[in-house]
Amino acid sequence: MKIVVIGGSGLIGSKVVTGLIEHGHEAIPASPRSGVNTITGEGLAGALTGASVVVDVSNAPSWEDQAVLAFFETSTRNLLAAEAAAGVGQHVALSVVGTERLTESGYFRAKLAQESLIKGSTIPYSIVHAAQFFEFIPGIADAATDGATVRLPPALFQPMAADDVARAVVEVALGSPVNGIVEVAGPDQFRLDALIRERLSASGDPRTVVTDPQASYLGITPGERTLLPGDDARLATTHYADWLTQSAIHA
Ligand SMILES: NC(=O)c1ccc[n+]([C@@H]2O[C@H](COP(=O)([O-])OP(=O)(O)OC[C@H]3O[C@@H](n4cnc5c(N)ncnc54)[C@H](OP(=O)(O)O)[C@@H]3O)[C@@H](O)[C@H]2O)c1
Repeated sequence: MKIVVIGGSGLIGSKVVTGLIEHGHEAIPASPRSGVNTITGEGLAGALTGASVVVDVSNAPSWEDQAVLAFFETSTRNLLAAEAAAGVGQHVALSVVGTERLTESGYFRAKLAQESLIKGSTIPYSIVHAAQFFEFIPGIADAATDGATVRLPPALFQPMAADDVARAVVEVALGSPVNGIVEVAGPDQFRLDALIRERLSASGDPRTVVTDPQASYLGITPGERTLLPGDDARLATTHYADWLTQSAIHA
């Protein structure tokens, strides 16, 4: 199959392209740096010619409320229209576990708008809801930092390795459209504040993590179970401690 990966130069996208090629498919990375822009429409029709599946793992350059909403709405509209014109058989998009519960946040309102456009289109689709990537954990700490203090709620979450996210996206892209959501998450639950406290301390980072149930996580105040996947989630196999060890070896 010819499969176009929108955002194919990104963290997940580059791994998805590699995975699809390993399965013997023609995987085309498509993003501004390869001349395909889903906002302006540049290069889109040409890239989609003959494609069976489009995988959208792009992300917005700005996460400011209006900018991120404009990005996911415009990009998804342009993409779905181009897919309809090209006769694409499945649209696969990557979103986040719990998106429908996180609408206090402009970023998650934008992801929900993306999902609504996909559900309302004529293209058969699969939406993968992934848990937070292990690779994103330092970014969670940075976003919650004020001076030398990192303020985080004790919310449970079930993060996973980007390699496992990409593997799940590849599996979904090569299957039949589910016309719904597939949840994927890591094998273990952690609390945001505790995991980041441990990580900062292990890396000699001088910041102090303060547990605060009212603290914001990307613009929301999650309850204890808000960020967790449901019982039917497909669980990845890579444990955080093993991933950290492997990452240190390859650094
Ligand atoms: N972070 C998490 O923990 C998490 C958890 C679950 C789901 N997700 C979702 O995972 C997805 C991928 O995240 P990521 O971290 O892999 O992203 P990333 O590394 O930031 O990559 C973003 C990609 O989007 C492309 N892009 C930007 N503007 C574009 C445009 N106008 N047209 C086409 N492509 C464009 C970029 O292309 P260039 O390189 O050419 O600029 C790049 O390939 C996101 O949708 C996010 O919501 C994230």
